[in-house]
Amino acid sequence: MNTDETGWVRVANRRDLGAGDVLGVVVAGREIAVYDLDETRFATDDVCTHAYAKLSDGWLDNGEIECPLHAGRFDIKSGKATAPPCTDDIKTYPVRVVGEEIQIKLD
Ligand code: FES
Repeated sequence: MNTDETGWVRVANRRDLGAGDVLGVVVAGREIAVYDLDETRFATDDVCTHAYAKLSDGWLDNGEIECPLHAGRFDIKSGKATAPPCTDDIKTYPVRVVGEEIQIKLD
């Protein structure tokens, strides 16, 4: 893991994440989902708050990720749970692109 003193860490290269894609990665022991939405990148925790399912195995639709297990949904920008059975929000992370790297800021 490459992280600098400000907490930014590389999660993928730009070419790893195509238009409209979601990619699951593990960084610093955390499961993170990275998204491309209209060429802007977002990142959230990858594990659903309802039960154990990886959101990166789900479907990105209109700015929301749909969980593959019970079809709960989250807004990928805010992390807000938007459809049942999910009621607890997911954590989001700041994202930046530096050269060819997609980076997120861990806290
Ligand atoms: S595990 Fe995600 S909606 Fe149930």
